[in-house]
Amino acid sequence: MQTVFSAFDAAYWQARYLDGRDAWDTHGITPPLQAYFDQLDVRQQPRILIPGAGRAYEAEYLHRAGFQNVFVADLAREPLAALVERVPEFPKAHLLLADFFQLPKDVPYDLIVEQTFFCALNPKLREAYARQCAGLLRPGGTLAGLLFEGEIGPGTEPPFGGSRAEYREYFAPFFEFKHFDTAYNSIKPRAGRELFICLKKKE
Ligand SMILES: C[S@@+](CC[C@H](N)C(=O)[O-])C[C@H]1O[C@@H](n2cnc3c(N)ncnc32)[C@H](O)[C@@H]1O
Repeated sequence: MQTVFSAFDAAYWQARYLDGRDAWDTHGITPPLQAYFDQLDVRQQPRILIPGAGRAYEAEYLHRAGFQNVFVADLAREPLAALVERVPEFPKAHLLLADFFQLPKDVPYDLIVEQTFFCALNPKLREAYARQCAGLLRPGGTLAGLLFEGEIGPGTEPPFGGSRAEYREYFAPFFEFKHFDTAYNSIKPRAGRELFICLKKKE
């Protein structure tokens, strides 16, 4: 039997925020991403995209650290408004109320940051996610962040889990694997259940 998911569209996500069904929200940057960001060179001013950014604590952290080319994309208005409330000076032109899969590829990104976006998608879109990340990055650009490892649920609503072997298949056609291992510094409820990935787009 095949599971048929409802559309996880803008209305669905906006309603989850408004209803407070947002248990993924960590209310601050998580240690794995903070540690990763802390070793980036701000002088290079990389062009960074955070898709499915939600309330975007990562964007706030990077912005306050002096990164000026940080873009956030989300289908739902509520979380982007929450970012603006916390960081009123965040550039408005960098707030993309948009479908990740429709983002233009005219100016490539150096870095895409993943946190609880991949697991929020209908699993049928995972291959398209890997392809779209590759399409948005410059050759040699990086996709870095966290993927849930193991099953979550059961349920017919996000988040959805998966396995390391499954994930490898999606990314291998487009990326070299620099790092792909259990994160050592996850927040407690996620400890041992998330992979830190650092994938380099093939030249
Ligand atoms: C589970 S939440 C995670 C939010 C954020 N990354 C975090 O960790 O708090 C998933 C987010 O992805 C957004 N989203 C889902 N599908 C999307 C799409 N196709 N394009 C852009 N954003 C999307 C939702 O609105 C939601 O904010």
